[in-house]
Amino acid sequence: MQKILVTGGAGFIGSNFCNLNKGNYDITALDNLFLGDKRNLDDDVTFIEGDACNMEDLDQVGPVDYVLHLAGTSSAPMFMGDGLVEGYVNSIESFLTTLEWARKNGVRKFLYASTSSLYGNNPIPLIETQEVTPINHYAVTKRMYEYSAACYNKVYPDIDIIGFRFMSVYGPNEEAKGIYANLVSQFCWDMARGLSPVIYGDGTQFRDFTNVRDVAQAITLAIETEKKLGADVFNIGTGRSTSLNEIVDALKKAFDNGVEAKYIENPVKEGYVMGQHADITKIQEVLGYEPKVKLEDGIREQVKNVRLDRIRETSSDSLR
Ligand SMILES: NC(=O)c1ccc[n+]([C@@H]2O[C@H](COP(=O)([O-])OP(=O)(O)OC[C@H]3O[C@@H](n4cnc5c(N)ncnc54)[C@H](O)[C@@H]3O)[C@@H](O)[C@H]2O)c1
Repeated sequence: MQKILVTGGAGFIGSNFCNLNKGNYDITALDNLFLGDKRNLDDDVTFIEGDACNMEDLDQVGPVDYVLHLAGTSSAPMFMGDGLVEGYVNSIESFLTTLEWARKNGVRKFLYASTSSLYGNNPIPLIETQEVTPINHYAVTKRMYEYSAACYNKVYPDIDIIGFRFMSVYGPNEEAKGIYANLVSQFCWDMARGLSPVIYGDGTQFRDFTNVRDVAQAITLAIETEKKLGADVFNIGTGRSTSLNEIVDALKKAFDNGVEAKYIENPVKEGYVMGQHADITKIQEVLGYEPKVKLEDGIREQVKNVRLDRIRETSSDSLR
């Protein structure tokens, strides 16, 4: 069986990837538990508590065929205030250390998380060929990943270094992210407690809400392809817009507990992203990706798997 190291493997996307693919690959999840929760992982996934900035911790993993690098400072608010320097150092150092470790250990493909945040308020549909000007520090770190990957791949062409611009990912296992979790999770947790989810404005703002199962599918296709991908970057989304009102409607159906959304004036006056959705033609054509999870099904699964006791800390007023 081929071996994969997943850094950030006890986090939201990492744990879902590991649990969904544990039968197909020999997977080791490495996480320093900064935001992850070991309980996200099924019992039969190998877990190492360790830091992706530390070669000795990575050495504990042993030889692998692929690395999926998801560790890092995973959202824009984490860079605010005193988190700035630490946020940059953790993201950049973990990326480069893991990449160096991978190359020195003969890894064939290094896959990493970039973000749709790079696009900001670019015209939709968002396409990989657009100019991007990151509007926050989090997005800057991801752009740095992409630049470093391109440079690194020129010097070391034997290792493919493939970036994924994830759109707005939702699904189970996000409780440990607390206030940094996706809106779908925050709304879901509110409604599970009988509280009204708070929507800024009229709820017509939209995102490309993408189920974590589809994200896992796309990553697997990139692992499996025989094509040489170099330092390519792909959008992973659904190619469709979903409004916050549609999310709440799907949650209302799944909970059926009479809880309604509360609408307030949007307090974010500058830089608010009103709408994003991806053009996914490239990943469809190159890797044969097709998003499969219907919103209602994904939301139902998430509602079934809510674990309120695992929420680190939550608030309806985080970024939306
Ligand atoms: N969730 C989304 O919608 C989304 C969208 C775009 C991009 N991304 C990116 O995808 C990746 C995974 O996102 P997520 O939502 O699963 O976030 P997450 O915070 O749940 O996962 C990141 C994991 O990395 C771990 N970690 C952080 N620094 C580490 C280090 N130095 N060594 C070892 N482990 C470390 C954390 O403990 C956490 O478990 C992140 O890089 C994030 O920026 C996520």
